Amino acid sequence: MRHVIKAQQFDRDELEQLFIKADENEDTKGAPLQHRILASLFYEPSTRTRLSFESAMIRLGGNVITTENAAEFSSAIKGETLEDSIRVVSNYADVIVLRHFDIGASERAAEVSSVPVINAGDGAGQHPTQALLDLYTLKRELGKIDGIHIAMMGDLKHGRTVRSLSYLLGKFSDIHIHFVAPPEVSMCDDVKEYLNSHGISYEEHEHFEDIVSDVDAVYQTRVQKERFESPEAYNQVKGRYILTPENTKDMKQGAIIMHPLPRVDETSPLMDTLQKAAYFRQVGYGVTIRKALLLSVCS
Ligand code: NCD
Repeated sequence: MRHVIKAQQFDRDELEQLFIKADENEDTKGAPLQHRILASLFYEPSTRTRLSFESAMIRLGGNVITTENAAEFSSAIKGETLEDSIRVVSNYADVIVLRHFDIGASERAAEVSSVPVINAGDGAGQHPTQALLDLYTLKRELGKIDGIHIAMMGDLKHGRTVRSLSYLLGKFSDIHIHFVAPPEVSMCDDVKEYLNSHGISYEEHEHFEDIVSDVDAVYQTRVQKERFESPEAYNQVKGRYILTPENTKDMKQGAIIMHPLPRVDETSPLMDTLQKAAYFRQVGYGVTIRKALLLSVCS
């Protein structure tokens, strides 16, 4: 494995191998990435993705160099191109973790980088490492991935996590996806075409109540305020789906609620103490899977 750019690049065998590596290295033994350096280059805000990559690298004995607000505090503000910044940083590090506001930025970076580039989110494009941790969460929490029914809910048009997760689920069998969204922000055609060509069944809904009792997992998402064309367009969509103990009470025994976080108001804090609320456990799986990924890319 070299660059990690989009979810479709992984085949099923690679995913299974990655999960085995994640299980084996959950408790780190030794310092396998001693003397290796990770550079995190973030042009968009992040809490979990940047800190969990950095935590994973440090737990593996490696080092981290970082610019958390690259748009302002790197030479981008002086007019340096992304390509030049990557050419430079690839002299300083053994792996670059990049978050950028442009779709396709990681692909551009990979073309000029002499070290592996990991896409940590490219605008409304993809977020493949979030999807890997989401898939790993499904496996850990439900004990399987094949055969599951999952609802993806909220802003499916701008949410890169649900796009990448759909692509990854396309590698498994007997999956059924319910896309629950207002028509203004429904799932884009590229993902639906991919699912059609991979024999994955899906339905589109406007009402969560119609599918609540059918699913093994609900994947809730934030309405991506920063990606709307106008505040009016955002206001029309926000607050449409809010998960509460009341409207989730008909979920199946053992079914879980996931969320990539951050949440705004779409998942009530009253949910947090319920066993089915898996989103903070999901955060923990993020470090585990990113450790496995760094071991694959840097070893
Ligand atoms: C997501 C992202 O950045 O796409 N967050 C994350 O990485 N955990 C989701 C979001 O911002 O809503």
